[in-house]
Amino acid sequence: MKNISTTYPQIGYNLSQPVTVFDSGVGGITVLAQARKLLPGEDFRYFADIVNAPYGDKSTAQIQALMRENCRRLCALGCKALVLACNTATSAAAAMLRQEYALPILGLEPALKPAVLQHKRVLVMATRLTLREKKFAALLSQVAKDDQVIPLACPGLMEMVEEDFRSAKIYAYLRRLLDPYCGKADALVLGCTHYIFLRRWLEENYPCFAIYDGNFGVSQHLYKVLVQNNLLRQDKTPGKIIWDCSLPPGEERKRFLCKCRQDLAALE
Ligand code: DGL
Repeated sequence: MKNISTTYPQIGYNLSQPVTVFDSGVGGITVLAQARKLLPGEDFRYFADIVNAPYGDKSTAQIQALMRENCRRLCALGCKALVLACNTATSAAAAMLRQEYALPILGLEPALKPAVLQHKRVLVMATRLTLREKKFAALLSQVAKDDQVIPLACPGLMEMVEEDFRSAKIYAYLRRLLDPYCGKADALVLGCTHYIFLRRWLEENYPCFAIYDGNFGVSQHLYKVLVQNNLLRQDKTPGKIIWDCSLPPGEERKRFLCKCRQDLAALE
């Protein structure tokens, strides 16, 4: 997690508002599940920009324009902290949004640091955009030795997770991607929140890799930011989730939000 300031001027948001967790699709639900374990009393809004997914194959300028619009819309609904539960949106737009909004904005980046400290060769699975952004290059040069990290772009994987993260198609994709590295790498960083749905399967099928993701780190950071800014909800009743997405009202939206609830239940 980047060492950013954790106190903010208290304008325009308050502790009765929800924490908003954003992703392009269902991936951020893995962050929501982790955050709810640390913050069971908080209300969360989960927002998926599924209409514009996948983000990983778009340009930086396209993601920045989408994130400006998403942020405007989510702040208008009331939001005391925004978690970009999407490595791709964080790489392309977190710095820009932090300049434009006086609101706690937390982001995700591939959990490279703990992996390179303990392992010789580290695979990083992420979207094409995350891997080609300056933010990733900067992280690599700060924490890793030459050739210690092998970036693996995973085009198409996000879409398969959206369909069904337990499909034979996904398992075949992962075997094609990872088998060549067995014995050649010893750690695997999941640098896209969608891939965290595959974590259990990867642990069972690839014991040769220690697996890392950034969800616990970002949830801990969220806890700290809420405490430091007096934004923790005081009510002792369990927090609720407001499910939301960029689809217009109708059957497709209902189906998608129903799948979101089921995917969360599969993680809890
Ligand atoms: N879940 C997102 C991430 O963490 C991106 C998936 C996509 O829209 O390509 O990078």
